[in-house]
Amino acid sequence: MTMSITRTGSVAVVSIDNPPVNALSQQLRADLLEAVRQLDADDAVKAVVLVCAGRTFMAGADVGELGRPPQPPHLPAVVAGIEGARKPWVAAIHGSALGGGLEVALGCAYRVAAASASLGLPEVKLGIIPGAGGTVRLPRLVGPAAAVDLVTSGSPVGAARARELGLVDAVIDGDLRTGAIALARDIADKPAPQPISSRPVPAVEAGFWERAEQAVAARARQELAPLRALASLRNASMTDFAGAMAYERATFLELRDSAQAAALRHVFFAERAAPRPPELAGVTPRDIRSAAVVGGGTMGAGIAAALRDASLPVVLVERDAEAVERGLAGIRAIFEASVKRGRMTAEMAAERMAGIVGSEDYGRLAETDLVVEAVFEDMAVKRAVFGRLSDACRPDAVLATNTSYLDPNRIGDGLARPERFLGLHFFSPAHVMKLLEIVPADATEPQVLATGFALARLLGKIPVRAGICEGFIGNRILKATRAQAERLLLAGATPSAVDAAMRAFGLPMGPLEAQDLGGLDIAAFQRKAARARGEAPFAPIADRLCAAGRLGQKAGGGWYDYADGDRRPSPSDRVAEIIANEASGRDRLHWDERSIADAIVLPMVSEGAAILDEKIALRSADIDLVQIHGYGFPRWRGGLMHHALVRGLRDVVDGLERLSSQGLAAPPSRALIRAAAAGAFDDP
Ligand code: NAI
Repeated sequence: MTMSITRTGSVAVVSIDNPPVNALSQQLRADLLEAVRQLDADDAVKAVVLVCAGRTFMAGADVGELGRPPQPPHLPAVVAGIEGARKPWVAAIHGSALGGGLEVALGCAYRVAAASASLGLPEVKLGIIPGAGGTVRLPRLVGPAAAVDLVTSGSPVGAARARELGLVDAVIDGDLRTGAIALARDIADKPAPQPISSRPVPAVEAGFWERAEQAVAARARQELAPLRALASLRNASMTDFAGAMAYERATFLELRDSAQAAALRHVFFAERAAPRPPELAGVTPRDIRSAAVVGGGTMGAGIAAALRDASLPVVLVERDAEAVERGLAGIRAIFEASVKRGRMTAEMAAERMAGIVGSEDYGRLAETDLVVEAVFEDMAVKRAVFGRLSDACRPDAVLATNTSYLDPNRIGDGLARPERFLGLHFFSPAHVMKLLEIVPADATEPQVLATGFALARLLGKIPVRAGICEGFIGNRILKATRAQAERLLLAGATPSAVDAAMRAFGLPMGPLEAQDLGGLDIAAFQRKAARARGEAPFAPIADRLCAAGRLGQKAGGGWYDYADGDRRPSPSDRVAEIIANEASGRDRLHWDERSIADAIVLPMVSEGAAILDEKIALRSADIDLVQIHGYGFPRWRGGLMHHALVRGLRDVVDGLERLSSQGLAAPPSRALIRAAAAGAFDDP
């Protein structure tokens, strides 16, 4: 039973109960139409309240039906049925009214919401547009400008804002159901409002749609759905209701079957699966009520800010008083920037800072539940820090390292009770980036691993379990990316051409400008350590840039020149000269965007396949999440490995063999060749 009907006087209450989120399953759609039929036939009923049990109103489509042909009754018919009912329906919204849920509410004569409710049409985030009148009714109710914001961003609005927009008729402070029933009684004898479908779309000033198109195109980059949603809204403002509905439905059906929607659905499911690794089923994490960070540099400050954003009290430990002050200043700067961007008030920033204690004294960590180490990337320094943490912390405190490349097993092996130690690899800036690689060491016990996942949830991060190898998942692939960028330069491509091609592919930044932003020194330091171990890392040009002091933006130059105070890269004659020197005697090839992107992306796939094969990543979708949330790989491509599958693994192997025969890439990994033969990655 997903629905029940009760009466209070002349008001019927239709209660939906389809846990966990009252998704609009086929059964629920049929039930809603049946309720309309029954209540229309019941003369004792004067008005209807539609309310949901559990934590939310209808929060959207049934994800189990995503990507499958929907079964009748279809949602547009359900919404039309409610709108055409002989009794006025009142939607009583708590939690989230999202997607189809909001479209159902738009079919109702009235909408009331709890103060904590949020309402939105997030379809574009799944590569589709609303398919049951969202783009047609919404502009008729709230006007085109607000409708464009809501539909093309996919972001929800809170109840108060929804009231301002006219999206809801009232915000109910007390009990929602009681308030909705009171309103239903009130309106039962009044003339029904004009159905939204027969209202006109309010007029817009000249040029409105052209400006909206420019703004949406700039934001959407290569994502199709936001512009198609805009087109549907625009069409709805010029066409009659039936014509607008037909246009919306056709667009919805077309996008539903598109490659982008398939990719975005893949990412949606990957994100749902990532926080719940099967090995941790039934394992209860430890409580994390307080945290500490050792090392308050770039990463430590960001991690401390992220922990504070999750309301944990934080101790920041640094080497000396001066470094403590510097670390605290770094954290303060993060919150101040958030205030400037309007993301928090000055009071919130002050409250965040008040929850941080800076200290040089490890004695302050005696009661801390979780410590994240973010000191220099140096084995001896890190081991010394964990030695002190061993003495200072409670025996059950969880101890984590944020190392990028060092072996966590070696960092933690001197620890008393090494089972409470693990790697938690944040990405820079740590208070912004969603990815958290969770790296169990050999001794890490399941409960501690589960605590890493619980922490990710608390911080609003996407956790990905990674095994131990140099660079874990993300930075190991990054090494391949960077090596390929250098091979391209040696073979005649310019830095600007390499970066432009990767931006055209869908990344927010090319690999060389990204290095300039982050600084070339960290990778240089790591190459030095690798050479000390007898390895031969490949970065001939980056080595020359570092030797020349060109460490990136902060040094006024790296792969590009930067005029004083200007962060825009401009091509550098000096770099061109360095490249020409390194490349002397080699063939200069012709490169277009597609061939550059291939030379970078295909070797990344090859490395990804090896990572999966070595069980460094548990599933190919986890590699996709690492690429999307750690490195800006376009979400609409579904991530690196999904992209490779769509392209065809055979084609990827062929491309790599061509590149490698020209000396422009390593041959495809054995794991990739096997996957190509099987037509799929070896996923559990
Ligand atoms: P950083 O150089 O900005 O900061 C390191 C901080 O550690 C400095 O403030 C230093 O005073 C402090 N420190 C050094 N020895 C200490 C000790 N014995 N006790 C207390 N504090 C000490 O370095 P960054 O970039 O923040 O990196 C820190 C760690 O995070 C490294 O392991 C790095 O590999 C890793 N990491 C760095 C990323 C990045 O993009 N910068 C990304 C992810 C991880």
